[in-house]
Amino acid sequence: MPTVAAEIQLSKITMAYGQKTVLRNLDLQLKGGELLALLGPSGCGKTTILRVLAGFESPQKGTVSIAGQDVTRSPVRNRGIGVVFQAYSLFPHMNARDNVAYGLRIRRSSLGKRTARAAELLETVGLAEHADKFPHQLSGGQQQRVALARALAIEPRVLLLDEPLSALDAKVRVHLREEIRRIQTQAGTTTLLVTHDQEEALTIADRIGVMHDGQIEQLDSPEAIYRRPATPFVSQFVGVTNRIPALPEDGRVRVLGHHLGIENQDRTVSDGTRLTALIRPEDLTLSDDFPGGDSAGSGLVTTLVLRGAITSVMVRSEALGQDVRVDLPAHAARLFSAGQRVLVSPRATTTLIGRDHTELSEEDAA
Ligand SMILES: Nc1ncnc2c1ncn2[C@@H]1O[C@H](COP(=O)(O)OP(=O)(O)O)[C@@H](O)[C@H]1O
Ligand SMILES: [Mg+2]
Repeated sequence: MPTVAAEIQLSKITMAYGQKTVLRNLDLQLKGGELLALLGPSGCGKTTILRVLAGFESPQKGTVSIAGQDVTRSPVRNRGIGVVFQAYSLFPHMNARDNVAYGLRIRRSSLGKRTARAAELLETVGLAEHADKFPHQLSGGQQQRVALARALAIEPRVLLLDEPLSALDAKVRVHLREEIRRIQTQAGTTTLLVTHDQEEALTIADRIGVMHDGQIEQLDSPEAIYRRPATPFVSQFVGVTNRIPALPEDGRVRVLGHHLGIENQDRTVSDGTRLTALIRPEDLTLSDDFPGGDSAGSGLVTTLVLRGAITSVMVRSEALGQDVRVDLPAHAARLFSAGQRVLVSPRATTTLIGRDHTELSEEDAA
């Protein structure tokens, strides 16, 4: 296992394919030993960053350094990097053991050494029993475990994971991501995980970079990304967000009959513009203590959706002409039932606002 956790620095990277510039002046740093997830919609440039870091692409501008060493012009094999791709990347004609030992073989390790190392890693990923099996004899999850063991066999300074779990079914995905985190933490390998799955990023990353159109919009802890999204894009891409009409008034906005401060004050807000407040379902509350008929937050409960510890209460607001989702602890939601008239109010005193029209294209949200 690596003795020193390698820091990574991408500085001012510009990467274009032909006429299409995918990354422009991009900076990204990983601390030694951390697992950083790049999260963003398909096509935003996540894989391109990974390929530049690995050395599969040479950027037109900028530098890549690993552990303080400029590797911008170094070939892939000299960078000390292990990579796991989405799926189907094992050598089909080699059994699990030979797949894992492959990197050591091309580095001319002795047969004894590489057999021992392959056995050790297959054990680590829980596949000691399956060393003689060929990829087609293994399940998708098992194949990705072999791919992980193969990437780790060379004791890489850096581990790159490009959507390694996205071809697997939900249960295997959850199990294997925990395994990846455990093994990565143990080995102390600096790791870049590319994913479009927010839950994956939120559950296993030390930090998350949320990407949009070749830019990193916010780089922060999972907690901060979720609780304090820096931009409307981040708020809508990560987690569930209600989009509720908001009207500017004296530098604040009026939402559901409440005056809220604006978190993203860089927005120009002139009175009369139609805006949208971005409010998480758990940041709304419900009451049946009801003042009057046409109060701004009033609505009728349409359905209750059980989600385990929380229940989503869907409220149809006639005034807004839309549904609002309010997430309550299951025991609190029991006080409400379909057809009941309720009052929806924000819990916080501030909100993020977006423009009236969608900030997130339909394609991004998919
Ligand atoms: N080899 C390539 N040639 C031309 N365009 C590419 C190539 N690879 C990626 N792109 C384009 O670059 C953009 C970013 O792609 P990519 O980094 O693969 O995104 P992501 O991994 O976030 O889905 C996309 O618009 C994609 O079509
Ligand atoms: Mg990709």
